[in-house]
Amino acid sequence: MSAITNHMPTAELQALDAAHHMHPFTTNDELADKGARVITRAKGVYLTDSEGNQILDGMAGLWCVNIGYGRKEMAEVAARQMMELPYYNTFFMTTHVPAIALAQEITKLAPEGLNHVFFAGSGSEANDTNIRMVRTYWAEKGQPGKSHIISRKNAYHGSSVGSGSLGGMSYMHAQGGMPIPGIHHINQPDWWAEGGDMTPEAFGLARAQELEAKILELGEDKVAAFIAEPVQGAGGVIVPPESYWPEIQRICDAYDILLIADEVICGFGRTGNWFGSQTMGIRPHIMTIAKGLSSGYQPIGGSIVCDEVAEVIGATEFNHGYTYSGHPVAAAVALENLRILQEEDIIERVRTVGAPALKAGLEKLAEHPLVGGLSIKGMMASLPLTPHKESRAKFAADAGTVGYMCRERCFANNLVMRHVGDRMIISPPLIIEPEDIDVFMTRARTALDETYAQLKEQDMLKPAC
Ligand SMILES: Cc1ncc(COP(=O)(O)O)c(C=O)c1O
Repeated sequence: MSAITNHMPTAELQALDAAHHMHPFTTNDELADKGARVITRAKGVYLTDSEGNQILDGMAGLWCVNIGYGRKEMAEVAARQMMELPYYNTFFMTTHVPAIALAQEITKLAPEGLNHVFFAGSGSEANDTNIRMVRTYWAEKGQPGKSHIISRKNAYHGSSVGSGSLGGMSYMHAQGGMPIPGIHHINQPDWWAEGGDMTPEAFGLARAQELEAKILELGEDKVAAFIAEPVQGAGGVIVPPESYWPEIQRICDAYDILLIADEVICGFGRTGNWFGSQTMGIRPHIMTIAKGLSSGYQPIGGSIVCDEVAEVIGATEFNHGYTYSGHPVAAAVALENLRILQEEDIIERVRTVGAPALKAGLEKLAEHPLVGGLSIKGMMASLPLTPHKESRAKFAADAGTVGYMCRERCFANNLVMRHVGDRMIISPPLIIEPEDIDVFMTRARTALDETYAQLKEQDMLKPAC
């Protein structure tokens, strides 16, 4: 029996962590030298670390703790469900109440026509389900050749072999034999970094039309689906120009391509509506969900599936599923999360209070000499850092160097702001109050000032040639 507790000295915990724990998306040797930050507890929007620091979590964990930390009701529901039925599967003609109730509740909240849920344990698993589901759908309709899936460069859809292949992160494809065959990536609608002299609207249209070009190149009878996040999250909170999504919808409709909206970040209130698809005005056939579904209190994800696809898939045995599909404790906890989101009007408050306050604060922060703009939708935002605002120039230093420096200054000021390359990312719990948004802005400004001073001192405020 392990005697490791929160009360042990930080250095001891770090040494044990380094000895036995391999971290995701980390150079573990480097971490072992530095020592991991040990988080011991959390309440509301604040984390406590093993040194007693109170850190404002501007990332809601990994974009997931929508209702904030420390909700007693969630723990009580989990305990009750563990006593009643801690586990049973949903294979072999069985079901249980938490899975039934959660599937019903999700479909009540989902856009019209999306009335079916296939559960998974995470967003990655759910996207793997989607690959198999859309290919099976077309095969069952007598078009097995309609199996190619189009995605976007710099998209993030998960880290399993299937979902990582859907994603468009080249550094991920460089390891482990990805992408799998039949996945194609078009350019992303990132006007700030790639728009050059084009207007955002012309650029958005051009990037959407790359989908049409790719369909024509592969053949309409070969393309099963297009997958995209309504607003790219892990790629840097990239809000597409307004011209983008209507054109994508037109193309999917015109060529009979299934549209998969990856709502893993955007879903459950992040953009100010239940789903990002509603915010961006799109009509997907399948939506990937995870993260905010349980506010991260339990690992659970899934695919919300439209009637037409569910009907076709339902006519055959779909040879797919996970031991933890619809896990009763995870489902009960997710259901409680949905109750809290609804009864406390959290998403309405995002629209009327949280998002406007965040936007007002970030607009002021965007005036900082190091910040080149603001990308924001609801309560997800990014601040691209630049040595030259007017030209939206990149730094001469390797991409991500300045972002990393700024992230470290944020931590030093008890603030979590993640960096993606040289963009600073903001995605706080949805329940953040205006006074905590003020605390966020004060700490973020200090971090930016310190980064700016450090860059000046090291002569790094130079644009790339
Ligand atoms: C849009 C999107 N899809 C899928 C995933 C993968 O989810 P998970 O980490 O739960 O597998 C993520 C994770 O960040 C995501 O942002």
